Order: sequence, then structure tokens, then C-alpha cells
Amino acid sequence: MEMLNTTEIAREICRLRDEWKLDFWESIKDIAKHPVVLRMKLYPHHGNSSCYDHCIHVAYYNYQLCRFLGLDARSAARGGMLHDLFLYDWHTHTKRTGDHFHGLTHPRTALKNARKFFDLNHIEEDIIYRHMWPVTPFRIPHTMEGFITTCTDKYCGACETSRRKGRKKGRGI
Ligand SMILES: [Fe+2]
Ligand SMILES: [Fe+2]
Repeated sequence: MEMLNTTEIAREICRLRDEWKLDFWESIKDIAKHPVVLRMKLYPHHGNSSCYDHCIHVAYYNYQLCRFLGLDARSAARGGMLHDLFLYDWHTHTKRTGDHFHGLTHPRTALKNARKFFDLNHIEEDIIYRHMWPVTPFRIPHTMEGFITTCTDKYCGACETSRRKGRKKGRGI
């Protein structure tokens, strides 16, 4: 059996990384360029990230993890891109509407909006509707991709929030 040397292994890893990145973009580009989805850029989310930035981050980690695990990476990326399509600024939402339960209600709003503009499969619906679990204890994900999203969403949210803190102290990027 022919052994690969270190340079060939590094080259192969780079090739795979580029191929995965390209496939990730191919998987979500119709969503990422859609005018309704682009509106998420108007709404701040965690730290200095807009809702759009956050959804791209979740979609990317979803894709990477699901592809690595042999799951449906395309649906995981698409669901991730749409999981917070609630289309308002949640920081001022309570004051404007009296809804004190954005954390519980926004997955249903995002699913309703996403269904209006895209054909969703059951994995994408699961990701959007159940991504807040365990905050929504009765909405346990039914798919592995949905479960992974509950983790990537919280991970990305924490990173985005901490990046803002770092910036305030002059240590951030
Ligand atoms: Fe959310
Ligand atoms: Fe989120």
C-alpha cells in the first residue's frame, strides 16, 4: 500500500476543506441571497453580530459537523440558515409588542416565515422549530441534525456574545 507523505496529506486536507466550503455555499446560496433572508442583516442579534451573521455561523458549523458525521449536511446548513428568521429586533421586541417570551415563541415565527418562501424538508423544519431545546422542554429535536443545531446555536451565540465583551475592553478582533 502506497503511503502518503506529510506534504501530500496536508494538500489533501486543503483540497477537502475547499471542496466542503464550496459545497456549503452551493447548499445555502439561494437562501443566503434571498431578499427576505437578507433583511436579517438589519437586526442585531448576539454581540456585534447581526441575525444574518449568526445564521451563517450556525449553518456553517451544522454543515461541517453533519458532513463529518455522515448526516444530511445540506439540510443542516439550510435549516441553520433559516433557524432565526423571525425578522425583528428582539432587544426592542417586548417593548413594542408586549411579548415577553421571544425565547419561546421565535422558532414558530421563524418556521412560519421560512415556509412562506422556501420548500422545507422534515429535517429543516425540525431544525427551525426545535432549535431552542431545552429552553423549550417539550420540543425535543426529532433528528440528529436538529439536535446538533441545539448545540451549534448555543456555541455560536456564546462566541458572538463574548466577542462583543472582548471588543469593549479593547481586546477583541
Ligand atoms: Fe433562535
Ligand atoms: Fe440562533
